[in-house]
Amino acid sequence: MTTESEHAAMTEDGDPSVAGTAGYEVISNAKLSADVHRLVIRAPRVAAVRQPGQFVIVRLGPGAERIPLTIADSDAEQGSIVVVIQAVGKSTSDLVRLAAGDRIDDVVGPLGRPSDLITSGTAVCVAGGVGAAVIYPIARRLAEIGTEVITVLGARTSESVLYAEEFASFAELVVCTDDGSAGRAGLVTDALREVLATRSVDVVYAAGPVPMMSAVAAVTKPLGIRTIVSLNPIMVDGTGMCGGCRVTVDGVMRFACVDGPEFEAHDVDFAELADRLGTYRESELTASTHVCRGSA
Ligand SMILES: Cc1cc2nc3c(=O)[nH]c(=O)nc-3n(C[C@H](O)[C@H](O)[C@H](O)COP(=O)(O)OP(=O)(O)OC[C@H]3O[C@@H](n4cnc5c(N)ncnc54)[C@H](O)[C@@H]3O)c2cc1C
Ligand code: FES
Repeated sequence: MTTESEHAAMTEDGDPSVAGTAGYEVISNAKLSADVHRLVIRAPRVAAVRQPGQFVIVRLGPGAERIPLTIADSDAEQGSIVVVIQAVGKSTSDLVRLAAGDRIDDVVGPLGRPSDLITSGTAVCVAGGVGAAVIYPIARRLAEIGTEVITVLGARTSESVLYAEEFASFAELVVCTDDGSAGRAGLVTDALREVLATRSVDVVYAAGPVPMMSAVAAVTKPLGIRTIVSLNPIMVDGTGMCGGCRVTVDGVMRFACVDGPEFEAHDVDFAELADRLGTYRESELTASTHVCRGSA
């Protein structure tokens, strides 16, 4: 792990000589849909070593929450990383409001284990919502190393389909929307079933909401197709110390930040994960309400 925290330490020390230059610069912020933004952040050491499947933990400023975000892309020459953020609560809403030139106190990473990528055969990459940003680096690297990639990309409406052009540039793409406003109407699992009925598939990779990943696992398990999911439990430190991200996999407690975030889907206890994700719902709602009132 490379930790880019020197600037942050200087900020917290209040070193006046670094005023205005501490932290990680936001190079650009593009709105991809109503609540999803793509931020390019200067973080050269993370950009130099990160691999598909890995993430960063960002902390906007003093007292802010630590937010795990997948590294969707990077440019080692420019020294930048890309994160795609869906504003679902206070911290993510604060992050998507940043403008070019603004700074983030901490960007720590790359964290987590790189994806387990097959180097031949056929992979289906299934993404739901902002899970597209998690699946994109995996699918792209799979295509680069010679695996045939079929991407099934799901969203609520045409407006919230993410990264379709990017996926289409290297993979066969099936888009599904809940309302049929883009691609075919229906769930990603419907499209996945059709792909699996006609193609020989070696591995399925999936990222998205927990019920979606659980449903994908339920489709592939009876067919005996290896399936890898990227889990999104609550994370705090990202180093295996706090236990916040614990998940049960094959009956064993694992920490998603250091043992994952990818796991064999057929072994994951999704019911427990969904339950743990709901633990802080009330305080999250309170924080969101406060931010809305504060910004009204
Ligand atoms: C490895 C990993 C990679 C992720 N990658 C992305 C990404 O690329 N883009 C993206 O938009 N989101 C990503 N997430 C989810 C993102 O971290 C949460 O949406 C964010 O933390 C919500 O914070 P909030 O304060 O805005 O919302 P809150 O109101 O605090 O929470 C909203 C929901 O977000 C989840 N959540 C809250 N706090 C955390 C936390 N510390 N860790 C994980 N989940 C939390 C819970 O499900 C919660 O119900 C990822 C999560 C993990 C674990
Ligand atoms: S986030 Fe603390 S142990 Fe994983």
